[in-house]
Amino acid sequence: ITTSEEGMSKEFKELVLSLPCAKFWNGVLHKYEGHWIPSMSLKGMISFRKHFKVHDSDIILSTFPKSGTTWLKALIFTILNRSHYASNSATHPLLTCNPHHLVPFLELKIYDENENPNLENLPNPRVFATHLPFSLLPRCILDSNCRIVYICRNPMDQLISRWFFATNIRPEYKETSSIHELVEMFQEGICPYGPFWDHVLEYWNKSLEKKDRILFLKYEDLKEDIISQTIKLADFLGLPFSEEEKKRGEIEEISRLCSIENLKKLEVNMSGEYKPGVQNKAFFRKGEVGDWANYLSSAMAEKMKKVVEEKLQGSGITF
Ligand code: A3P
Repeated sequence: ITTSEEGMSKEFKELVLSLPCAKFWNGVLHKYEGHWIPSMSLKGMISFRKHFKVHDSDIILSTFPKSGTTWLKALIFTILNRSHYASNSATHPLLTCNPHHLVPFLELKIYDENENPNLENLPNPRVFATHLPFSLLPRCILDSNCRIVYICRNPMDQLISRWFFATNIRPEYKETSSIHELVEMFQEGICPYGPFWDHVLEYWNKSLEKKDRILFLKYEDLKEDIISQTIKLADFLGLPFSEEEKKRGEIEEISRLCSIENLKKLEVNMSGEYKPGVQNKAFFRKGEVGDWANYLSSAMAEKMKKVVEEKLQGSGITF
């Protein structure tokens, strides 16, 4: 049991001890119903699953970590709030708040800080984020009509992004672990919220079943054509762009506001803190497709491609 779990109930301690675990970086992943959950999310996940009460109008942003969460938080917030905050306004909240503060994580923040928070007074539609796989979301969400936006990313870019994120926060990880080791574990399915393929497949299959409730996005598609993906997102959220908005360049303005180039140079994201020990700037690195080629050997890349292709075979998903 790690120190972050100090102060937990006897019942929770027993649960933690009963779960298979794997060392990851300097922390631990627990295998919960087939998924590798980081120890820092476990308590929040249990409370979220137990206490969350869904509204049909809720919007849940669900992501595999390092796949574009920050970008999607910014886009969803801006699309939803565009009648209150013009995207070119000098007082737009994104100019002074990191996207993670505007759209908080459920298991990692809200339910980690408070076992049973009162979320009923938040204005509708409420927007939350999670990294949990579909099958671990609270039953009430699975049964509801709320909207889920999912984004995933080429696993090789995702793994490299994770490496830089973690070693930026904890430079000592460079000494105690390696990219090679991450690849080996990835192949075994061992990574936070992994296996990767189960996470992706669960949301993919559900998105085919419930097209109007689950939107499945890929980071690469947003990079390729942010305008059409922003239109798709706004349509899905039930707030399509009007002809007048299109004419006056609202979609281009939103994509500019939420771009990594714009966000990473804002004072709040250059010098602000997300939480103790994690700077906002850690969430913005290069934001490129294919950066993995600079860090993974061809042997490592082949291993990852092979296992992902095998696991996703027949699904229709390609990276
Ligand atoms: P890289 O490390 O490859 O640069 P997440 O937000 O899920 O934690 O993912 C982080 C990745 O998204 C990082 O990728 C980061 O640079 C990139 N990113 C953050 N904000 C972005 C934005 N507005 N547009 C595109 N990519 C962004």
